[in-house]
Amino acid sequence: MSKITAAITAVGAYVPEYVLTNEILETMVETNDEWITTRTGIKERRILKDPDKGTSYLGIKAAEDLINKSGVDPSEIDMVIMATATPDLLVASTASYVATKIGATNAFSYDLQAACSSFLYGMSTASAYIASGKYKKVLLIGADKMSSIIDYTDRATCIIFGDGGGAALFEPNEEGLGLQDEYLRSDGVGRDFLRIEGGGSLMPPTAETVANKKHFVYQDGKTVFKFAVSNMADVSERIMQRNNLSHDDVSWLVAHQANKRIIDATARRMQLDDSKVLMNIQRYGNTTSATLPLLLNDFEKRFKKGDNLIFAAFGGGFTWGSIYLKWAYNA
Ligand SMILES: CC(C)(COP(=O)(O)OP(=O)(O)OC[C@H]1O[C@@H](n2cnc3c(N)ncnc32)[C@H](O)[C@@H]1OP(=O)(O)O)[C@@H](O)C(=O)NCCC(=O)NCCS
Repeated sequence: MSKITAAITAVGAYVPEYVLTNEILETMVETNDEWITTRTGIKERRILKDPDKGTSYLGIKAAEDLINKSGVDPSEIDMVIMATATPDLLVASTASYVATKIGATNAFSYDLQAACSSFLYGMSTASAYIASGKYKKVLLIGADKMSSIIDYTDRATCIIFGDGGGAALFEPNEEGLGLQDEYLRSDGVGRDFLRIEGGGSLMPPTAETVANKKHFVYQDGKTVFKFAVSNMADVSERIMQRNNLSHDDVSWLVAHQANKRIIDATARRMQLDDSKVLMNIQRYGNTTSATLPLLLNDFEKRFKKGDNLIFAAFGGGFTWGSIYLKWAYNA
């Protein structure tokens, strides 16, 4: 029997309607379109304005988009993984709620949190379950309502992040398509540079933590930038080398959308032509767990069966890595 690999067989996505442009941000904090564009590549982001809706809403809409496009019967889904850094609630799994709402009534489900690397790590997890032979349909959702943890008076962070969700279905493949190799890394040295200090077990919420804005994202941008540039480029280059892939062999770079300059640096190290570098950061900003599936959904029609995709991500923790996947279908 040939080896089972895990292939992506369908994708879907959702972004909220409200568009927060650089021009609007200029009226909120001391910043300007030129600074944001040249430093990050971002022009606008989507924001989920409805205060009664959490990350699950983004995940449900993305999964429903996938289900409608692919025709997959949700009751046949074995497992739902929800990659997110902004669960609806603490303790109660967001994945379980999403699975029930989309009709994945026979699935088991759980959340996976690795900051901006959540979806990348989730790809590894989904693939391992498929490759084990035990499960046939694993739905991986990446969604984040970043606006729920951003301080819109802090110009260092509020210009970067946006809300969104995306989904990918993993199924067994016997033609050798799907996930080929992965190189995943982490280093706890990063925990002080990108984090939310309050609300966890180290600093439970109090009136004081709220008053001192300890429940918002804090980022030492310069340090994160430095680590992100070198680490994302290192792992991407390494995964190419150990799979004997030249820049001609790589069809697409699917990189976490945190900053255009970080993506460009990774592409340069891989000696990739710009035309192979997928980019939608200008429209969505950094949607954390949703960046990779939003790229897959936006560029799905350009992918051909057999294309070599290199995924790369970097995030809080620090967490980072690269995955080599062969695309399995023509849209
Ligand atoms: C956040 C980031 C865009 C800032 O860019 P930078 O070139 O490092 O800018 P700095 O933080 O050094 O700030 C440079 C100057 O611009 C100012 N500045 C910061 N934010 C600004 C804004 N939104 N508008 C205008 N000026 C701003 C700073 O105050 C600083 O001024 P100073 O020199 O007078 O002190 C960049 O560090 C970055 O992208 N970091 C990584 C982010 C990331 O990838 N995070 C997620 C990982 S998953």
